[in-house]
Amino acid sequence: MSSKPTKKRRVDSQPIPALRPNRFRDLWAGQVAAERVGETARLSGWVHRRRDHGGLVFIDLRDRTGIVQLVFHPETAGESFALGHRLRAEDVVSALGTIVERDPETVNSELATGAFEVQVSDADRLADAATPPFEIESFSGQVSEEMRMRHRYLDLRREHMYRALELRSRVGAAMREFLGGEGFLEIETPTLTRSTPEGARDFLVAARSAPGSFYALPQSPQLFKQLLMVAGMERYFQIARCFRDESMRADRQAEFTQLDIEMSFVELDDVIEVNERLLAHVFAAVGGPDLSLPLPRIGYDEALARWGSDRPDLRFGLELVELTELLRASAFKVFSAVAAAGGAIRAINAGRHDLPRSALDGLIGRAQELGAKGLVWAYCEAEGWRSPTAKFLTAEEIGAINAALAAEPGDLLLLVADRRPVVNSVLGALRLELAERFELIDESLDSLAWIVDWPLFEWDQEGARWDPLHHPFTAPDGALDPADPGAARALAYDVVWNGQELGGGSIRIHDSELQTTVFALLGIDAGEAEERFGFLLEALRYGAPPHGGIAYGVDRLVQRLLGADSIRDVIAFPKTASGVDLLTGAPAPVEIGQLRELGITVPVKPRR
Ligand code: AMO
Ligand code: AMP
Repeated sequence: MSSKPTKKRRVDSQPIPALRPNRFRDLWAGQVAAERVGETARLSGWVHRRRDHGGLVFIDLRDRTGIVQLVFHPETAGESFALGHRLRAEDVVSALGTIVERDPETVNSELATGAFEVQVSDADRLADAATPPFEIESFSGQVSEEMRMRHRYLDLRREHMYRALELRSRVGAAMREFLGGEGFLEIETPTLTRSTPEGARDFLVAARSAPGSFYALPQSPQLFKQLLMVAGMERYFQIARCFRDESMRADRQAEFTQLDIEMSFVELDDVIEVNERLLAHVFAAVGGPDLSLPLPRIGYDEALARWGSDRPDLRFGLELVELTELLRASAFKVFSAVAAAGGAIRAINAGRHDLPRSALDGLIGRAQELGAKGLVWAYCEAEGWRSPTAKFLTAEEIGAINAALAAEPGDLLLLVADRRPVVNSVLGALRLELAERFELIDESLDSLAWIVDWPLFEWDQEGARWDPLHHPFTAPDGALDPADPGAARALAYDVVWNGQELGGGSIRIHDSELQTTVFALLGIDAGEAEERFGFLLEALRYGAPPHGGIAYGVDRLVQRLLGADSIRDVIAFPKTASGVDLLTGAPAPVEIGQLRELGITVPVKPRR
């Protein structure tokens, strides 16, 4: 589960840009202020709202910088007065008029320009607007997201959407400013390329020149940035579009943006150091949280042991506690059998929260949904436990569990026994859900930390093979013993912000032979390695410098800076969870002739 950013931040906004006066305007709406009272100004924008008082027409005129009230008065508006009556919401207008102070009783304290208005003397309607399918003016959250995405150009007219894109632009500018200053070159890498394994399915693009052959869209620029290091670029970055055909969630899109970085002749500490300064610079530039550097570093094992997750939310307690040894010899088979099979028994002290039986049953159901076989709940009482499981445990066992969990009377204890990864993921997820339910998260806090000292591989039970925890190009920490892949550690690091993975990277393998060994351990034999990654293996033979880097999810970064609920709120033209672009209708059938040229036949009948 992803912990969702709920904190709405007030981020700094850009200064109002300079305007070259022309026939449309010489002033931004947001510039109407006391020192301009008495001046004549020409403004342009959209009709945000219109109030017709018969004798007078009031128009709220909206541009990027704000809203200002235009007044069409029969005596001062002249021929434009009739136009004032005809204007409708979202019409595009240009108006000339005098900036005046409003009467004290008509001041609108909700508008930055609310103490003033523009007495119109001349106005033009530059474009008519059809009646919009939803009101731009009042964002009530009532409009379906589908409708918003279908008419995205209207949705983007809302101030909070504009703010999101503005912030995004400023974040990119701050990244470029910092990295440029540190000698990083911004270099573009191809979009039509070969598969880069980042663990998702590829999007493929058929090649007309070679029917039956396909480009893959990059899941990341990983291999190209490594080749740029072999090429001697030393310090590279790119704000790169990445494509992963994976199921989308609130913090995932199939098409997303990374800030991708790579450096040569560096060790892990060098990469982390420059990246901490990068984050601090970007945050300072846009009004994000103050960072106190260096950021804490937490070992992967410790993260799982204490928080049950490799991207722990550190803003609250509810840490996981180990009970396996205490209960290894228990007569309660649920526990002793798991311990005997090499599994773990772990628990959370959820604190003093008196839940009704239905809620406790709900917790058991939730644990099962998350993959546990069950969940033991217990209320610590002065004498023993109130719990359906109490009767299966001895008084000594209950006492020992209470002590391990520092349980006090009234505390709710939750225990899970299973394979260790299952216990951690179930309790790790319950921990987040309980924190939300009990409102334990102090939204004014921000916690950023590095997760370091990762295993290089993890055993995939289903596929019965080793998988890389990051990607196959990650360097081991020290020597790699092919006889014991599970023991290998990686020179990898993720940066986690309030329980979300913001970025991740590693020192890379720069030795062709070691890379071949790692491929072999992952079940990629020499032939397949040559076929898929021959170009990389070859490049590594021509003098590859030690190198390493990182990539951040830019969409996620902006989402969290803004406190937006969904990654879609910080992307101008996002796709739905099922990958549909509701605005253009993509993906769409294509003409049969196009398919023929590509040598593709499809089972579904294409258009025409
Ligand atoms: P990784 O796969 O961890 O690393 O991706 C880096 C960061 O990209 C963001 N991210 C996403 N954001 C939105 N939608 C998605 N579908 C999505 N997938 C990933 C996350 C993540 O932390 N080549 C390596 C980096 C490296 O080793 O330098 C890579 O791509 O914030
Ligand atoms: P059972 O013996 O299956 O009736 O389970 C007895 C109690 O133990 C019930 O409250 C179950 O929810 C709980 N339970 C069963 N399996 C597990 C498990 N793997 N971890 C924690 N509790 C469990």
